[in-house]
Amino acid sequence: MTVAILGANGQLGRALARRLPLQGHAVLPLARPEWDVADTGIVGRLVELRPSALVNAAAMTNVDGCEREPERASQVNGQGAEHVARAAAELGIPLVHVSTDYVFDGLNNETPYAEDAPTNPLSVYGASKLDGEQRVLAAYPQAQIARTAWLYGLGGRNFVTRMVQLADERGSLSIVTTEVGNPTFCDDLADAIGQLMARPAAGIFHLVNEGYASRWEFARAILAQAGRGHVPVQPIDHYPRPARPPAFAPLANTRAAALGIRLRPWPDALAAYFAALTEA
Ligand SMILES: NC(=O)c1ccc[n+]([C@@H]2O[C@H](COP(=O)([O-])OP(=O)(O)OC[C@H]3O[C@@H](n4cnc5c(N)ncnc54)[C@H](OP(=O)(O)O)[C@@H]3O)[C@@H](O)[C@H]2O)c1
Repeated sequence: MTVAILGANGQLGRALARRLPLQGHAVLPLARPEWDVADTGIVGRLVELRPSALVNAAAMTNVDGCEREPERASQVNGQGAEHVARAAAELGIPLVHVSTDYVFDGLNNETPYAEDAPTNPLSVYGASKLDGEQRVLAAYPQAQIARTAWLYGLGGRNFVTRMVQLADERGSLSIVTTEVGNPTFCDDLADAIGQLMARPAAGIFHLVNEGYASRWEFARAILAQAGRGHVPVQPIDHYPRPARPPAFAPLANTRAAALGIRLRPWPDALAAYFAALTEA
């Protein structure tokens, strides 16, 4: 297949552009400003491009920025998602649209969320991504929504790079134990998206590395892998910020697993990420 990737300069977009060719696909990396998903004209231009599949990895991902600019969040994460779905519907081609654990509130919750669990976003970002999911499925019921969480990828700026940077700058960290999720390596997600795209199954899928951790546990694992295991990490229960993240919101991969698509445990994926960094 020739897979057009929207948001191709993001950390997931770059992982898709590197990994999908390993499954025999050609890739068309599309990035803004030329390929702005919020622009309605993108529908016709994608149809003219005639890819044989689409992955939408474009999003306004600055979670706190979405609280300050809710209209922009809605244009990109809501309407933008619909534009891509309308193009896929017109072409009748596979579409994987990427979404997030922020569609859940993570409150009064003790087990990972299955794909059909009730949603209740607490933030503008989460609400805009849920709006995107609903618009995509309304415009194109054959679409695949891949919800994921806590992404880190080669060349990206993310929680992993931030922890290493803060450890070096400050010599100690204070990290919350009250936020729990699935750390997920972009390369593993990209591979899973490639596998999912080739299946005729539609609807919502949870694609995350297996297992879950608190931010504090994840930070400790990062520093251990980064050769900074001696840096103390204080557990705290609150970190002030504009957007409210879900508290306990790990995702359970049940639907993709039933198709044989599973991601390895998160500690193994984190080790693979650091090994790849060293090689690079
Ligand atoms: N990061 C996470 O922890 C996480 C967790 C769960 C789900 N997700 C979802 O995973 C997907 C990929 O995220 P990521 O981590 O790769 O984020 P990222 O590194 O921030 O990449 C997002 C990309 O989208 C592009 N973009 C923003 N607005 C756009 C627009 N109007 N039109 C076209 N492109 C636009 C950005 O362009 P510029 O490069 O020009 O800024 C950026 O390259 C998103 O759907 C996100 O919601 C992410």
